[in-house]
Amino acid sequence: MDPVRIDVATPSRAYTVTIADGAIERLGRTLDDLHAPERRFIVSSPLVWRLHGPKLAHALSSAESILVPDGERFKQLPTVARIYDALVRANADRASTIVTFGGGVIGDMAGFAAATYLRGVALVHVPTTLLAQVDSAIGGKVGVNHPLGKNLIGAFYQPLAVIVDPQVLGTLPRREFRAGLYEVIKYGMTSSAALFDRVAKERKAIFARVPETLTPIIAESCRIKAAVVAADEREAGLRRILNFGHTAGHAIEAVTKYRRFRHGEAVGYGMLVVAQLARARGALAERDAQALKDVIASLGPLPPIADLPATQMLDAIKHDKKMVAGRLHVVLPTAIGATAIVDDVTEKEMRAALKAVGFAK
Ligand code: NAD
Ligand code: GLY
Repeated sequence: MDPVRIDVATPSRAYTVTIADGAIERLGRTLDDLHAPERRFIVSSPLVWRLHGPKLAHALSSAESILVPDGERFKQLPTVARIYDALVRANADRASTIVTFGGGVIGDMAGFAAATYLRGVALVHVPTTLLAQVDSAIGGKVGVNHPLGKNLIGAFYQPLAVIVDPQVLGTLPRREFRAGLYEVIKYGMTSSAALFDRVAKERKAIFARVPETLTPIIAESCRIKAAVVAADEREAGLRRILNFGHTAGHAIEAVTKYRRFRHGEAVGYGMLVVAQLARARGALAERDAQALKDVIASLGPLPPIADLPATQMLDAIKHDKKMVAGRLHVVLPTAIGATAIVDDVTEKEMRAALKAVGFAK
């Protein structure tokens, strides 16, 4: 397939997302063309490095690799400190580029290290999960979790480029692949009924990772995200739609100590919670709420939530970044492809929605 290029024109930096089979093999030349500073550090995880490292090491022959654990429970400051330690030991200076090579956890952590090491060094994202390719590598959010809340420590720091090679998804376990699809459904719900329908109708080919089906879905997701972050880089307004389903989603991750759910799975439940809130207010047609339930169910089972008390979820929600001046901003669906942001959801409504979706009393 021909490469796809999507421009991300944020006020702090303009860059391109390139989606191309085999892009990793050409990464050395790509970085040279970008004039990326010449000392290159690849930050990856042992698993991703074992699976795909040799190809990347060949493409970036003089690069030094730094391996740290990934997975949500390692997305914390001590892991970032390991990246700083390796950079300091290697005498990395400002003429350095950090290349992140992994899923959203590696991208967010190594992106935060790039934003803060020597007050900022060049950053290029090479995402290797579906979730990272369609979402986390674009838009400049980098950071780590705090035990009390998700992504509470971080920065906005845009990369020089995002290089997406869909071929790396060939080794991604089905559960991780599915986790990325919930974020694609998110874009469908907020911005594109056509994308939503595509996921619903082309599920088999998507799971089979047929390039002619999957690449356009990745590209459309990236286009939606690029347009939103270009319009609102620092989440003063429109970008809040990208948090669709994330209020309850982040709370699920925090109450289960980041161990039980993939981020995308938590967002899957979070979308059901906001659909329930919208239904209860009469803001969303039953037909659309059912379509969301059906597409989520069609992807496969989500981990159980019946043992998670709604009260604990509400406590976690109160620590969320989406609380502004004591009011919780919630993105409600009003149709497939349309949302409204409200700040008057009461605790009672949220509790009722959590229970209706299946959380414990
Ligand atoms: P992850 O980074 O933990 O990766 C999931 C698992 O897949 C890991 O075990 C990893 O080793 C493995 N893996 C990665 N690539 C692989 C490959 N090609 N083949 C086989 N295994 C592979 O999880 P994720 O779902 O990619 O990212 C979730 C994170 O992204 C969350 O922390 C979330 O908060 C963050 N996120 C950030 C943004 C943002 O805008 N910055 C947006 C959405 C999500
Ligand atoms: N995933 C939320 C954002 O990038 O804004």
